[in-house]
Amino acid sequence: MNPQISTPAHELSQRLSATALGARLARRLTGHQLATWGYPHDSDPNCTAQLLVAELAANAVTHGRVPGRDFELRLRLLPARDTLRIEVSDARGDKELRFLDGGPEDEHGRGLVVVLVLSARWGVAPRTVGKTVWAELSLSGRRRPCPRRPVPEG
Ligand SMILES: Nc1ncnc2c1ncn2[C@@H]1O[C@H](COP(=O)(O)OP(=O)(O)O)[C@@H](O)[C@H]1O
Ligand SMILES: [Mg+2]
Repeated sequence: MNPQISTPAHELSQRLSATALGARLARRLTGHQLATWGYPHDSDPNCTAQLLVAELAANAVTHGRVPGRDFELRLRLLPARDTLRIEVSDARGDKELRFLDGGPEDEHGRGLVVVLVLSARWGVAPRTVGKTVWAELSLSGRRRPCPRRPVPEG
């Protein structure tokens, strides 16, 4: 797919309330923005970007939340590298991100694993207040199929 990239809209930056609603909005905005950039809602890049944003935003509004402070979603298309850079900034700088060592039945501790598996690179950058958790998604290289519900057998 060769999306038609039009300037100056290579970037989306949006402050959102640090609530479950804000996190859902971050995911929806991502779906719309990727579609605007030429990756339809049901395409693999769009779906993967939404999953990454969903996990990072969920973490921002639970673990990174400071009462009264928003979080920020930033999406940047880096055409030279055919990469989408996702940045989610929250107000808490005093808590470390860590992979949880859970069992198969655990309902928590999968978010960062999802980010690790679906992104080309990811990391954490400190800010004056809080931090930015970022992930980069390759839009051209080997496509990871969009994880969808399993197809019923038979
Ligand atoms: N934005 C964040 N701010 C502070 N801590 C975080 C953030 N994201 C993740 N963490 C820490 O990393 C842990 C693992 O995150 P994750 O894999 O998404 O699991 P879960 O969100 O289910 O706990 C969290 O339990 C939390 O301690
Ligand atoms: Mg999480």
